Amino acid sequence: RLEDTLAVIKPNGMEQHREEILQEIRAGEFSIMQQKEAVLSRELAEEFYREHRDKPFFSQLVDFMCRGPCLMLVLTKENAVEEWRAMMGPTDPSEARQAAPDSLRARFARDVLENSVHGSSNAQHARQKIDFIFGEIGEENEGNVE
Ligand code: CMP
Repeated sequence: RLEDTLAVIKPNGMEQHREEILQEIRAGEFSIMQQKEAVLSRELAEEFYREHRDKPFFSQLVDFMCRGPCLMLVLTKENAVEEWRAMMGPTDPSEARQAAPDSLRARFARDVLENSVHGSSNAQHARQKIDFIFGEIGEENEGNVE
């Protein structure tokens, strides 16, 4: 059964590894059903990561996510949530390099904050975040989200 997930290429991924990451997505046979490149506003980044608002790294995370363009993608395939998480590897690249050396984070993350890509953790979150991102960001705002 086909499933959707939300993938985000974060600012450091966009700066240095955008084409390689997109190539991996295509090689993984995900269908890219929607995509949007945008510089996130603080408000949008804070809302997107609201689950993490009490974490000590929250303000750093929001600063990082707003520092340049992100590419947000709706990826569709069978078992897309798990497949994309497996392709990303663990959150922390030092763990990723041990556990999943071919993963995107093992290869392209700078550190646990600038870990190059994001993916939804389950199908319900995927639906919520897809609705949030692709509902909030109108076509007319492409490239500069207020
Ligand atoms: P992501 O999977 O998008 O979800 C939350 C993000 O917070 C995570 O990727 C990292 O970018 C960041 N993050 C998680 N843990 C830490 C940490 N210990 N220090 C700094 N940033 C973190």
